[in-house]
Amino acid sequence: MADIQLLDKVISLAKRRGFVYPSSEIYGGFAAVYDFGPYGVELENALKRFWWLHVVQAREDIVGLDSSIFMHPRIWEASGHVGGFSDPLIECKKCHTRTRADKMLNEMGVEADEKISIEDINRLITGNNHKIKCPQCGANDFTPAKKFNLLVKSNLGNFTDDLTEDPVYLRGETCQGIYVNFKSVLDSSRVKIPFGIAQIGKAFRNEITARRFIFRTREFEQMEMQFFTAPEDEMVQYEILRQDRWDFYKALGFNMTNLRWKKHENLVFYAKEAYDIEYDFPWGFDEIEGVHARGDYDLSQHSKFSGTDLGYADPSTGQKYMPHIIESSSGVGRLVLAILCDAYSEDEKNGETRVFLKLQKTLAPVQVAVIPLARNKPELTQKAKQIFDSLKWNFRSEYDNSGNIGKAYRRQDEIGTPACITVDFQSLEDDTVTVRDRDTAAQERVGVDKLVSFLNT
Ligand code: GAP
Repeated sequence: MADIQLLDKVISLAKRRGFVYPSSEIYGGFAAVYDFGPYGVELENALKRFWWLHVVQAREDIVGLDSSIFMHPRIWEASGHVGGFSDPLIECKKCHTRTRADKMLNEMGVEADEKISIEDINRLITGNNHKIKCPQCGANDFTPAKKFNLLVKSNLGNFTDDLTEDPVYLRGETCQGIYVNFKSVLDSSRVKIPFGIAQIGKAFRNEITARRFIFRTREFEQMEMQFFTAPEDEMVQYEILRQDRWDFYKALGFNMTNLRWKKHENLVFYAKEAYDIEYDFPWGFDEIEGVHARGDYDLSQHSKFSGTDLGYADPSTGQKYMPHIIESSSGVGRLVLAILCDAYSEDEKNGETRVFLKLQKTLAPVQVAVIPLARNKPELTQKAKQIFDSLKWNFRSEYDNSGNIGKAYRRQDEIGTPACITVDFQSLEDDTVTVRDRDTAAQERVGVDKLVSFLNT
């Protein structure tokens, strides 16, 4: 259930425990850009590995790609981004804060999305004028909405001072790199339609309203998979993909009552069908992934603009067609936020509130912490270090020699470490340690020689 206070708690934990920092903080910050700290990068990497395992490694019919951030500028004309990748922007006449009009209307319960026409959005704004308030100063006097293009321009390869001529863009989505490499992958590997190409990489958007922490940022990472099908198979494959994507979130350990499908009512002209997977964030349900049936639009456009025929000849039937595409597209940072919100837990221990992250083992930044009972007893610290050394190649492990066992447990709970191993004086006698479970705080004695198999169960 939406609980806006949860967002503040997650933001505070993320900063306090080194998951996420505001970018350039010592310079006063840099709007809508964030850095991932030591535990944040472990969580991100674990998520990306899990995605790659499910989407690429476990599939015979999906291959990976790492295309560049900078691409030929014509790609963004062909894709429709130069002409149409925009959000409706309004400006407060009093304090000049710029806001995304569709999101502002949504917050008041008025249905509008980024695909709505400027005329319609202006009509909705006029109709609801008395309710709309500037998020900065509270005034309700706005300029009419206009379309604002989200592509980020650069001066790559431009050695003049003029950026308006043929700008080179930082990619606005990773999938365009997949479309333009379709032929190279087809010609150089053993894939045959139906098959998919997957990629994880950075994308950049000049977002107008970037709020809600890492939910919407101007630099972010996407995990995208584009699956190429024969025209008649598109919708069958689409349903298979939707099921796969739902199963992925189950496997990630999400509380599935916090997820739902949202069908797009306002489809772009070429799309056959589009659904988003939404997560129940502290402010309510919002998109974490798009699963879309895109028809033959992408390869047709790139064939037309590049002059290279991207049509496919079926090797068994000889049938020639333009492949249709179904895609799944999600954001790493946005998923990290959903994971943190889903995992955030509190309980009472000895009259005190305990905060812990109920992360599943595959995602936990630290999978096992090894803690000597006292830091000034060399026999304990040496044994703990040995155990850490024997585990570190199997698990993301941390040697925690802070000396205060209670504090160490609290810290490990807050970063979501599923198991804490404590080395005490009994360990020196019988080669056993205590293993503390994060969720129940229950402790069990385990032989050091059994630790790997115990931690693997
Ligand atoms: N190729 C399709 C595409 O890019 P999208 O709905 O614009 O579709 C897909 O983006 C996913 O990328 C979103 O569901 C979200 O998880 C992530 N995403 C998009 N814009 C983002 C932003 N500004 N900040 C963080 N994540 C973003």
